[in-house]
Amino acid sequence: METERKKMARINDEYRKSMTLKLDYNNMMKEYVGDEQGLSLSDFKNEEKTVVKAYKSVLNGRGKGMMGWTELPYNQDEIVKDIIATAKDVIKRADNFVVLGIGGSALGPTAVFTSLCHLRHNELKRSKRKFPKLYVEDNVDPERMNALLDVLDLDKTVFNVITKSGATSETMSQFLIIMDLLKKKYGDKAKDHMIATTSETRGNLIKIAKEEGLKTFFIPDGVGGRFSELCPVGLLPAAVVGIDVKAMLNGAKHMDKICMKKDVKANPALMSALLEYLSMKKGKNISVMMPYSDGLKYIADWYCQLWGESLGKAVDLDGNLVYAGQTPVKALGVTDQHSQVQLYREGPFDKVVTIIAVEKFRNDITISDGYKDIPDVNFLCGHTMGELINTERKATEYALTTAKRLNYTITLPEINAFTIGELLYLFEMETAFCGAMLGIDTFNQPGVEGGKNATYALFGRKGYEKTKEEMDNAPKKNADYII
Ligand code: PA5
Repeated sequence: METERKKMARINDEYRKSMTLKLDYNNMMKEYVGDEQGLSLSDFKNEEKTVVKAYKSVLNGRGKGMMGWTELPYNQDEIVKDIIATAKDVIKRADNFVVLGIGGSALGPTAVFTSLCHLRHNELKRSKRKFPKLYVEDNVDPERMNALLDVLDLDKTVFNVITKSGATSETMSQFLIIMDLLKKKYGDKAKDHMIATTSETRGNLIKIAKEEGLKTFFIPDGVGGRFSELCPVGLLPAAVVGIDVKAMLNGAKHMDKICMKKDVKANPALMSALLEYLSMKKGKNISVMMPYSDGLKYIADWYCQLWGESLGKAVDLDGNLVYAGQTPVKALGVTDQHSQVQLYREGPFDKVVTIIAVEKFRNDITISDGYKDIPDVNFLCGHTMGELINTERKATEYALTTAKRLNYTITLPEINAFTIGELLYLFEMETAFCGAMLGIDTFNQPGVEGGKNATYALFGRKGYEKTKEEMDNAPKKNADYII
């Protein structure tokens, strides 16, 4: 007889299998998009060495240097306990949870929140919502900050300032404004309204957090901003809005096992990296991410940062100028069928489109019966919106393919914490593999740092005098070119 333990293992195994994401790349191949645009098995064969090298480099690099994120599904038991306990406390005493952060410290929390919570979460009454509202503030537009302050009841608000460097101007300016308000209102108790997520060893935020006695979570050294969603950066906001963070990590763990398969045909991250790499070689400089689900809309935003900031590099690992990268573009199915798809189907042959499909929506709605005398309207009746969105997705795949446009589809059986963990991890691994194929440093961001430094210089921060001088000596604007 099957023991209880074996039974649980079998059930878990069956669940994992049923929730595994699928990658369908038929529409990248010559048989479907024609010889000129399409890829062939011999293209794959020709890149065998590149694939093996990339695979080995990721395998050997995992867990080391800036690849600490590969261990997040495995090494956070204690941290997750703390996150859940902290979230419980926040849920009990707060009605608003506000993330102050930018880039990797904001896009992940937004993507996961939108994917896994009610699409109108913040508009629901607390009794239905059950968890605090979540706001992710990733800009320094003064009107936005004022608007936020207009709607927040500070008594019922907990802020989470997130910055790995502990120095980013945008985040620190938000923090300064909020901390000042909190101190004026609550004095010594201000700390009850602020949680800091930052580097344990670097930057100013950790110093301030210690001084103020803030509850603090750490971003591991080997986890860069855009790879940080599965550490406290993303897990704390997720737990506060009731997301099962353990299931997310389990999904990531499941995908990690799949992504460690050596055979490119069994490894969706290695395969999609190869598809994108080959597409780039064929001049496809634009990577469109198009989920057919409003819940996944901000996954495309998150992906854009991951792909753009990781692969957009001037030099390769040997210092040669390569100007690598692909411009990521976000689109939403079906909404963008009525805007961008015209370009995707008939414009330049410079794009590869990744479609994200959802097999089964969490809830569906039937299109009501009516207007039997108007067949052109009545044909919709009795179908569900879930059927309609998926039919339109298939129609777009077909339309792109017949126009010889490269496209492939990643399918989620359904949207839940497990599959979102899988999806995020799949994209992280794909990015790591693709960066290794391109021979660049996937994990640095000198371009972003350049912008940060220029801001520090213009604001007169100490230590940035040289940049300031360079900027002062830059060619002055010509008034003739301003109308
Ligand atoms: O991926 C990255 O490293 C960046 O986009 C950062 O996430 C972003 O610049 C914010 O940096 P920090 O977390 O240091 O405030």
